[in-house]
Amino acid sequence: MKTTLYYFTGTGNSLTIARKIANLIGETELIPIPALMKGNGTIKAPEGRVGICCPVYDMGIPVLVRDFLERLVVNDNEYVFAVLTLGGTGAAALKLVDSGIRNRNGRGINAGFLVKMPGNFPPVGVPPVGAKQALILQRAENECVRIATAIRNGDERRPGFTPLTSLLQFMLYGPFTKNVRRSGEKFSVSEACTSCGTCVQVCPTGNITMADGRPVYANRCELCCACLNYCPVQAINLDMLFGTEGRGRYHHPDVTPADMQMQKGLPE
Ligand SMILES: Cc1cc2nc3c(=O)[nH]c(=O)nc-3n(C[C@H](O)[C@H](O)[C@H](O)COP(=O)(O)O)c2cc1C
Repeated sequence: MKTTLYYFTGTGNSLTIARKIANLIGETELIPIPALMKGNGTIKAPEGRVGICCPVYDMGIPVLVRDFLERLVVNDNEYVFAVLTLGGTGAAALKLVDSGIRNRNGRGINAGFLVKMPGNFPPVGVPPVGAKQALILQRAENECVRIATAIRNGDERRPGFTPLTSLLQFMLYGPFTKNVRRSGEKFSVSEACTSCGTCVQVCPTGNITMADGRPVYANRCELCCACLNYCPVQAINLDMLFGTEGRGRYHHPDVTPADMQMQKGLPE
């Protein structure tokens, strides 16, 4: 059976999981959400299974994905699933995918899955390295096998109520969605910048341009931290919570800047 798997990724975790699941279930087309969101109007999912794969942000989903779900039309009788990647906790985010699909289509998702991956947000947690990172990636790979089996079998795994993450979502997600697009104001660029343009290349929303050899942020930021994490000389910092100076960086080892660029639908 054909599957359409829509994805959004900031540092490659969700793309990697989407690719693995696609390989395991077969006959799957991966479609980047940022490329679709350059247009307007209804997005009609083709016949067959429909999946959404993206990271958890502030116990919710990226605003771009939330907006995408407002436009996505799925058939009543198709199997719809969500796979969310996260660094620690955020099960309540699945409920947002469920309600997003329901609000537009009058029906929710059939199954929601979470995959723990390395965290990519240095202002909160220093990203894992070495053996610790390798263990998380290995466990995630095993989890993909279980998820793919559940999808192939058409298992029903409706997202349940999770009191703690729902409470955290209630506290964090509203302010996040309100302010996120202006997050570019919180990024700074140090003298170490070599004007290489990697930040421009990896930004999923095309929010960064170069002016006089320096990155300049507009107001379409998703706070995905691709710019911060892919900068080859760690010249970009983010002024939030514990900051990012000396707090490590992370992007998935298999996902290149060219892969990131492809999610915008631009030529390499
Ligand atoms: C702005 C932001 C907020 C995040 N919030 C959460 C969170 O609430 N819970 C969590 O477990 N991980 C959180 N994370 C970590 C990511 O969900 C996780 O690392 C994810 O796998 C990244 O996927 P990606 O590489 O596809 O962007 C957050 C990351 C960012 C950048």
